[in-house]
Amino acid sequence: MKILVTGAAGYIGSVVSERLVSEGHKVLGVDNFDNSKSGGPYPGIEFTEGSILDREWLIDYMRSNPVDAVFHFAAEALIAISMENPGRAFHKNVTGSINLVEAMRLSGVQNIIFSSTAAVYGTPRNIPILEDDPLEPVNAYGESKLVFERLLKWYADAHGLRHVSFRYFNACGATESRGEDRIFENHLIPIALDAALGRRESLSVFGSDYETPDGTCVRDYIHVSDIAEAHILGLKLMDSANGKAFSLGNGKGYSILEVINSVKRVTSRDFKVVMADRRPGDPPTLIASYNRASSMLGWNPKISSLDDMVESAYKWRLAHPNGYATV
Ligand SMILES: NC(=O)c1ccc[n+]([C@@H]2O[C@H](COP(=O)([O-])OP(=O)(O)OC[C@H]3O[C@@H](n4cnc5c(N)ncnc54)[C@H](O)[C@@H]3O)[C@@H](O)[C@H]2O)c1
Repeated sequence: MKILVTGAAGYIGSVVSERLVSEGHKVLGVDNFDNSKSGGPYPGIEFTEGSILDREWLIDYMRSNPVDAVFHFAAEALIAISMENPGRAFHKNVTGSINLVEAMRLSGVQNIIFSSTAAVYGTPRNIPILEDDPLEPVNAYGESKLVFERLLKWYADAHGLRHVSFRYFNACGATESRGEDRIFENHLIPIALDAALGRRESLSVFGSDYETPDGTCVRDYIHVSDIAEAHILGLKLMDSANGKAFSLGNGKGYSILEVINSVKRVTSRDFKVVMADRRPGDPPTLIASYNRASSMLGWNPKISSLDDMVESAYKWRLAHPNGYATV
């Protein structure tokens, strides 16, 4: 099949592009390098620099590059910034995404797989979280993703759009050739690896007084290859998955301090950790139930050990010391 990947220069978009190509699909990729580098797009794809915020360009591009499906990764995924400047989050994540479904409608593309997030659940009432639990985001980023998830239903009703939303928990790890290297980084594992490698002085932990076993936030980490696998299954099983949202996590939670300790263990390096105030918009604990993806798609995460996930990210860092700058 021919697939358009938005956000193709970003972390998950690049890994999923690689996987799609290895499965024999033809991949077109679009990114404006808002938070990624020129080496980010997987070399086996047909890449075009452009922004989904540029509606006229996007419509022209999609009309002249017909595809069977769109995998929509392009977004700004920065919770703290979304709390300071919600208009920016909604513009980038909602306006850009509406431009995309409009361009799909005008060019006759009927299938979309959307990168949603655990942030749509807000502060969950039950752990593990089920997809049908209340959707009450506590940050503007999560709300911006939920708005688009909901909008997809109306495009389905009106225009026959077929859609699957994957709500990733914390994506991590790397493949041999693709890894995590953004312009602005706010994800725990790459920041901790930078600290371990002496590329930053210290690492800040935001909040140590949450109602969790060690007081720091607990998150569910999912290897990026497992996320890629879910996309392949979602595409294959679009007929039965159509219209549904699936949580993608390991069903296990690790605190920020446990992740930091894993990075110290895997790299055999110590680094300075600074306790800082809580940030607005961070729920204490997010752990997925992946039963729906397991029963409907046959998806089960293959990499579940935190150290294995951290190790794959570390190996990629060692093999690509300057990230995508050298690719
Ligand atoms: N990484 C995670 O843990 C995680 C968790 C839940 C959901 N998600 C979602 O998954 C998707 C991919 O995440 P990621 O970690 O790869 O993020 P990323 O920041 O590495 O990649 C996003 C890419 O989108 C591009 N982009 C942003 N605005 C654009 C625009 N207007 N036009 C074209 N490209 C644009 C950026 O330049 C970047 O390359 C995002 O939608 C994110 O919200 C990620």
